[in-house]
Amino acid sequence: MLIDRLTARLKLAEQENAKRQIRVRHGVDFASNDYLGFSQREELKRAAKATIDSHGVGGRASHLVMGHTQHHELLSQQAAELFGYEAAMVFSSGYAANLGIIATLLTKGDRVLHDRLNHASLLDGGALSGANFRRFRHNDVAQLRDFLSRSNEPTLVAIESVYSMDGDVADLVEIQAACQEFGATLLVDDAHGVGVIGHHGRGASTAIKPDILMVACGKALGSYGALVCGSKELIAGLSNFSRTYVYTTALPPAQAAASSAALALLQANDSAIATLQSNIAHFRYCAEDSGLLLSASHSAIQPIHVGDNTRLMNLAEHLEAKGFLVGAIRAPTVAKGSERLRISLSAAHTPAQIEQLISEVRRSDLI
Ligand SMILES: Cc1ncc(COP(=O)(O)O)c(C=O)c1O
Repeated sequence: MLIDRLTARLKLAEQENAKRQIRVRHGVDFASNDYLGFSQREELKRAAKATIDSHGVGGRASHLVMGHTQHHELLSQQAAELFGYEAAMVFSSGYAANLGIIATLLTKGDRVLHDRLNHASLLDGGALSGANFRRFRHNDVAQLRDFLSRSNEPTLVAIESVYSMDGDVADLVEIQAACQEFGATLLVDDAHGVGVIGHHGRGASTAIKPDILMVACGKALGSYGALVCGSKELIAGLSNFSRTYVYTTALPPAQAAASSAALALLQANDSAIATLQSNIAHFRYCAEDSGLLLSASHSAIQPIHVGDNTRLMNLAEHLEAKGFLVGAIRAPTVAKGSERLRISLSAAHTPAQIEQLISEVRRSDLI
């Protein structure tokens, strides 16, 4: 009965050309979030291999039991220092971190204000907490201020620094000012910001100091897991009470060591950070030159509007046949009518690959 219902849902998705296929894909990667190419860097591989040799492959137990190793400890300290916080902790994923932060901090009678384009993990954390929730128009500080002024329930404002499907940057300074004025707590999900925006690619925290900063290690850092930065009290509270931290196996130490190596590269202002910026500029210049309509994104995420599931899937298939992997983002991940190619740029791309991709999009005649 329950599985039949799921099957009916799948049929419906198929009719709307929105059914997803999990499969192994090959080609030049314009689809992942490996913006600095760090997932392939020798520094990360060496750190992970050495830690597998010393600690084995598994996380073995939760942090509170005995899963917490010196590699998790070092990574936490490095994150706190690099992003300018008193303390930090390691979660097993960005999804678990967002769920854990929000569901631990908020309860019934509190309120969470979400940017309309917030990631599912932020929305799900709010739903799990039982707090009231409202979504303000995307990056609309005036509406956020209006919501903040209407009630004095304890409030968390949750935003992303760089929006994962649009690539635009939040109005960080104004949003932080509004939160401070109305006494709200600010959570910034810097998943797509670290490595890309801010001074030397260090993300949102070089512009503002949100009460809580979440950095997903599976994006530009090329690793896996997530870091949460904040006050000592916040980190102690989450370490004790966050169910997605307490009741799960710790991130394997080798993965923590790889993330440490990535933070060290960021700290050293590795040349990949500048290369990514020059690839973003090159992409935008060539795309505009060839008549493609770009959005206002200056991050590594460059959406190209298609606006229809079938045309989008045909375009993605055309590109794959030519050897390019791009994200095809369909409804319901984005609103109906705003289906798009999500091209993600990386320091690992060559200018020639970027030019070839753009000319294949043009040649497809689907845009
Ligand atoms: C904005 C944002 N937050 C959080 C996450 C979740 O991070 P993770 O993939 O580490 O679970 C993602 C990844 O999809 C994301 O894009």
